[in-house]
Amino acid sequence: MKLDDGSSNDPENTPGVDTIMNSPIVRERGNRRLLVEGLRADFQRLYDREPVIFRAPGRVNLIGDHTDYNDGLVMPVAIEFATYVAAAAREDRRVRVRSDNFNDSAEFCLDEVEVPQSSQWSNYVRGVAGVLLSENTSLRGVDLLIDSDVPIGAGLSSSAALEVASALALLGAANASMEMIKVVQLCQRAEHEYVGTRCGIMDQFVSCFGKANRALMLDCRSLAYELVRVPDEVRIVICNTRVERGLASGSYNDRRRDCETGVRVMQAHGLPSIRALRDVSMAELEGCQDWLPETVYRRCRHVITENARVAAAADALKTSDLRSFGALMYQSHASLRNDYEVSCKELDVMVEVARAVPGVYGARMTGGGFGGCTVNFVRTEAVKLFLATMEREYTRITARTPELYVCTPGDGAGRLLEESAT
Ligand code: GLA
Repeated sequence: MKLDDGSSNDPENTPGVDTIMNSPIVRERGNRRLLVEGLRADFQRLYDREPVIFRAPGRVNLIGDHTDYNDGLVMPVAIEFATYVAAAAREDRRVRVRSDNFNDSAEFCLDEVEVPQSSQWSNYVRGVAGVLLSENTSLRGVDLLIDSDVPIGAGLSSSAALEVASALALLGAANASMEMIKVVQLCQRAEHEYVGTRCGIMDQFVSCFGKANRALMLDCRSLAYELVRVPDEVRIVICNTRVERGLASGSYNDRRRDCETGVRVMQAHGLPSIRALRDVSMAELEGCQDWLPETVYRRCRHVITENARVAAAADALKTSDLRSFGALMYQSHASLRNDYEVSCKELDVMVEVARAVPGVYGARMTGGGFGGCTVNFVRTEAVKLFLATMEREYTRITARTPELYVCTPGDGAGRLLEESAT
């Protein structure tokens, strides 16, 4: 891929560097106060009552993709874009729910939570209600209104944000308490059972347990986690290819099946005690290579090497070794592209554009793949140049307009206190 000649990387010569922050394609955090005030006012208008508001953030994964459902390691951050659910209990067993994003309403009864065949935003709410009830949680009917500034279908976990915020709203309206880890697990289950994606636990976990300015290093087997400070000298910039991705479309589940095949084959060929790819070393994988279909071998290689990269990245972050961290991001991207085959042309273009900008430590696709976003580690003072270059080059090469988000890791889910709505 050819970039413009070097002069375009000179801030002085890059058109739009100073105006880029005001461009409609760049978003810093959404205007949370406006969104929350609007939600409250809409709720009062719609249901004629005062709501309580719950919030759950989206996420971006810094490194460690397609490892969570292999009992592996991940390092996401919660972002400030979030889903807000306003709720007020009812006297009966009905759930009325409206989404401002989809400009659509749905209604169901807690005594028969059915999920329509067609994929709909409200399936997430029904799914969460369904799993909560299946755990004998006593719920009450509730009126709900939802709004979100998490970009939808962009791989930033708008689904997990919706599930978690809905779960907290349903529990809150019923005055039912539940440990946050249980909320995480039930939301993941709702996605398996009601949406049909056999996702791992990363998205729901970080939506609940994320912390401002911290990356969350999670062991998806033990669920032990560590919060690691993201140094001030770096900004996390998310670049949205605007290529929509469909998790439930089957490719995600196919990858998961490849990993399970790998485990079964290796169990039968000398590694009877392994439970997941987490338990396999590269030497062991190579020892089994002859037994494994070529594709399955590469899928397993991605997972095993990616786990090692996450561990190394955590060490690098703790010592503020951003160069090493960035190098691991590029390696992760190459592995997801070549071995796991979940990248796409637009994601690859974004990573190459990023690589050529001075001040970028690292870039990679993030999340499930097949479109969606890249995540970039950029020196704070290089952010404007990065944004201007990305907009210009990505548009030139792909004829698509990207969307760019400059992020700060935010806090996990909870009830929104009125004074914190800013
Ligand atoms: C999706 C899933 C996660 C995880 C990522 C890939 O976001 O929901 O559980 O598997 O893909 O890392």
